[in-house]
Amino acid sequence: MSIAELTIADTAPSDGMDAVRAWVDDIAALTRPDEIVWCDGSLGEADRLTKQLVAEGKLIRLNPEWRPNSFLARTDPGDVARVEDRTFICSEDEADAGPTNNWREPAAMRAELRDVFAGSMRGRTMYVVPFSMGPVGGPISQVGIQLTDSAYVAVSLGMMTRVTETVLDLIAAGQEWVPTVHSVGFPLVDADGTRHDDVAWPCSTTKYIVQFPETREVWSYGSGYGGNAILAKKCFALRIASVMARDEGWLAEHMLIVKVTSPEGRVFHFAAAFPSACGKTNLAMLQPSIPGWTVETIGDDIAWLRQGPDGRLRAINPEAGFFGVAPGTGETTNRTAVETLWGNTIFTNVALRDDGDVWWEGLTDEPPAHLIDWEGKDWTPGSGRPAAHPNSRFTVSAAQCPSIADDWDAFDGVPIDAILFGGRRATNVPLVAQARDWRHGVFIGATISSERTAAAEGTVGELRRDPFAMLPFCGYNMADHWAHWLEMGERLGEHAPAVFQVNWFRTGDDGRFLWPGFSENARVIEWIARRVEGSAGSVSTPIGQLPVVEELDLDGLDLPEEDVAALFEVDPQSWLAECDLTDEFFARFGTRVPAALRAELASLRYHLRA
Ligand code: GTP
Ligand code: MN
Ligand code: MN
Repeated sequence: MSIAELTIADTAPSDGMDAVRAWVDDIAALTRPDEIVWCDGSLGEADRLTKQLVAEGKLIRLNPEWRPNSFLARTDPGDVARVEDRTFICSEDEADAGPTNNWREPAAMRAELRDVFAGSMRGRTMYVVPFSMGPVGGPISQVGIQLTDSAYVAVSLGMMTRVTETVLDLIAAGQEWVPTVHSVGFPLVDADGTRHDDVAWPCSTTKYIVQFPETREVWSYGSGYGGNAILAKKCFALRIASVMARDEGWLAEHMLIVKVTSPEGRVFHFAAAFPSACGKTNLAMLQPSIPGWTVETIGDDIAWLRQGPDGRLRAINPEAGFFGVAPGTGETTNRTAVETLWGNTIFTNVALRDDGDVWWEGLTDEPPAHLIDWEGKDWTPGSGRPAAHPNSRFTVSAAQCPSIADDWDAFDGVPIDAILFGGRRATNVPLVAQARDWRHGVFIGATISSERTAAAEGTVGELRRDPFAMLPFCGYNMADHWAHWLEMGERLGEHAPAVFQVNWFRTGDDGRFLWPGFSENARVIEWIARRVEGSAGSVSTPIGQLPVVEELDLDGLDLPEEDVAALFEVDPQSWLAECDLTDEFFARFGTRVPAALRAELASLRYHLRA
């Protein structure tokens, strides 16, 4: 169906836009903006807004010779990341939020928000931004509207999602939509009419990131930082969408999506869940080190997956841009990302070079002799502090990525052949293992964790659990999420994708990474593809199927034999110790842990002791 066919606002029996107008009026009456601007997502609009932000001192235009149409934003030093302790899931029943979310009673939170938002946009413009997550009108896509008093957020949303008036036509025709409200919480006019000067990065020390899962609403106050303020992303596409997915039988996950093509031309699609800062953007843009294989990008952070008419699991990237971590992104680690950022990019909290371009740790081996750091202060290599904030980010359109796949915005998504789970594990977890079946795969997803340091022999270090890499993003009880995955497996039956566990971060006794990682991860991708097509063998172990080492392509890597052995070592004693930790972790969720996962844990122990 074309977009034109979907534009049937005039013939709709009841106009869904009445509800939108009433909502916009209601929020305006509460927050009192000077002016309301409806956004259309056009290039002209982005140009107007960025010029205005530059004139107001809120963006710095980079030297167009090096970085055309690109900008630097410097946040308030207290507004540099997501604020998990101020993120709330307001379900009717506290148990539905689960032990890993902050819960507040919805009616009480609503009253609190009404107070906080009262007059919060005085003196500012409120932008009304209609957006689609996924191709406009697509069968896996959803639409929403964000109200925001930040032009920086309106522009960023235009890069990260599909902002278009067609969304309003869909809503007029009756499509469900998710309302999201955002204020930086820095009014320019007091209730008594006193006017204040604006600042470069308006925000508030009081912050609220609030999700109402039952009514599918988001309210965000006090922050301008991406994850807190671009509400389409983590708040909608993960927290709210995960609840929609639970209720409607699909999945909203913290996953990258890639298209992999073998030397014979066979195409595979993989989705992979790794916790934040564990390499999703890197793997999504992988440049394979082995000849004949190509990896192309579909998404780097979020996947929505739904069973298609043919019974297979199909996935879309609901986003239209990348909001990636800058530090560590360089020619040797992620050249594709560096090339993506040639222009039309908003950088946040990176360092400014004297020639008007940007720099961050890891972009080049040697830092420039002088920079202005992310806080606007002079910086030299001897300053003893990073020039870019460790969580500094780039915002750029996905279409600009040189490795973007031709099917990245396929209307009904791509069929998923394999799902990968990974964390940062210094011990225990091998480079790659295949789950025996879907149920075992769900157990692996539920027990994803990272550890800071290698442990003494026969033990494991302190594990930070991040089940399905969704700990900060699941809008409902994490244990119910596991049950939902098990149910999806029942529904998918023989069409269920194969599931794998990967770990790029295992260390030797001396603390160094055993695996070179980055573009060499293509060797693991190759093995996974060969397993999917049924042409590679495996060795059974209690924790899953490991590669037959001779079948893993290690040519030209120069890895010592003992390192290869260490990468795949399964030590029963330390795995049993890990099982005890998994028991403790499951105990947090009480009786909501699915029996099938308890059975997986029992079976793992049994086989480790055998
Ligand atoms: P969010 O965008 O926050 O969800 O995180 P992400 O999963 O996209 O993380 P990202 O790709 O930005 O993580 C990057 C970090 O992982 C950097 O410190 C990289 O150097 C490191 N990294 C990525 N891939 C590898 C790898 O194969 N080996 C090693 N050793 N480090 C890696
Ligand atoms: Mn993420
Ligand atoms: Mn990322």
